[in-house]
Amino acid sequence: MAEKKSWVLMVTAQTPTNIAVIKYWGKRDESLILPINDSISVTLDPSHLCTTTTVAVSPGFTHDRMWLNGKEISLSGGRYQNCLREIRSRASDVEDEKKGIKIAKKDWENLHLHIASYNNFPTAAGLASSAAGFACLVYSLAKLMNVKEDNSQLSAIARQGSGSACRSLYGGFVKWIMGKDDNGSDSIAVQLVDEKHWDELVILIAVVSSRQKETSSTSGMRETVETSPLVLHRAKEVVPKRVVEMEEAIKSRNFPAFARLTCSDSNQFHAVCLDTSPPIFYMNDTSHRIISCVEKWNRSEGTPQVAYTFDAGPNAVLIARNRKVAALLLQRLLFHFPPQSDADLNSYIVGDKSVLMDAG
Ligand code: ADP
Ligand code: DP6
Ligand code: CO
Repeated sequence: MAEKKSWVLMVTAQTPTNIAVIKYWGKRDESLILPINDSISVTLDPSHLCTTTTVAVSPGFTHDRMWLNGKEISLSGGRYQNCLREIRSRASDVEDEKKGIKIAKKDWENLHLHIASYNNFPTAAGLASSAAGFACLVYSLAKLMNVKEDNSQLSAIARQGSGSACRSLYGGFVKWIMGKDDNGSDSIAVQLVDEKHWDELVILIAVVSSRQKETSSTSGMRETVETSPLVLHRAKEVVPKRVVEMEEAIKSRNFPAFARLTCSDSNQFHAVCLDTSPPIFYMNDTSHRIISCVEKWNRSEGTPQVAYTFDAGPNAVLIARNRKVAALLLQRLLFHFPPQSDADLNSYIVGDKSVLMDAG
């Protein structure tokens, strides 16, 4: 290790969030985070919704610490510990000639980290902050510690932070394969197509509420698995067929099939939330009005123009078939849901789907 005690080595990375079009909801293993079904998502443009994380190491640090959006949080939870342990165990030698720093593989066990992470969108409000957050944490730590694993192996580590995080290691459309192994080694994300494959699509997010949700995704899905009679039917009978159809729709850029599957899957996910005891309500009246507005429009056109999907929160993710439709959609939304006059609607975020991250 370098002689000087004063050095600090750091890496900054940026990771976009991803929104599932076939939802993950339910685990078969809580600690390894193994899901009960495959899921498919689209990774968003990092310039709109993303996490930026800086990880730093110094011999002067006495313990691991983390700040999220400027506030110190505890790293004692199993998810942070699992990610840190998995990355540390794969660390390699690091040398920074300019700074005169040399860290040997074995030194990483005794060096401590400071981590600062910032989400440029609402945290814990159903816009997948845990996905961008844990993917960025794992990616930036892997860079700092010179971990040689590829994105698919990193996805299995990010999965242990938050299930949806494994899909943010890739851009474009991504599938999380549930896997069969009890140890989770085959529960990984794979890229189905890259971000250029279907670049007409435009994604618009209507921020209905940026407040933290009452039921986190983790506890919500645990309660669903414990109490919902419908969820196993969904996982075993419905999702496997939808995954095949969705892959086909994405590969052939078949918007009507894509929209039908996306909307149905979002609605079924919220139906199993209602089927949970006590029921979980993630959507609110504004969310329902947005659904009605899109359904009416799609019906009047005879073929779908816009797909909607809602994660575990009231915020709408709207996918327009092209830029022209996106402009019309924004116009209609501003007319029916003007952000200033409707206290239930905060803002709109418009962006493309996109590539992965830039590492700084
Ligand atoms: P969301 O719908 O936003 O993903 P979740 O309930 O799934 O909500 O997860 C929210 C939790 O994810 C936060 O309470 C925090 O523990 C974790 N999280 C969010 N952002 C980050 C981040 N940038 N880095 C690390 N962890 C994060
Ligand atoms: C509705 O990945 O946040 O967004 O694995 O417990 O951290 P944990 O849950 P999380 O759940 C995401 C649920 C969802 C659907 C999805 O992203 O597939
Ligand atoms: Co989440």
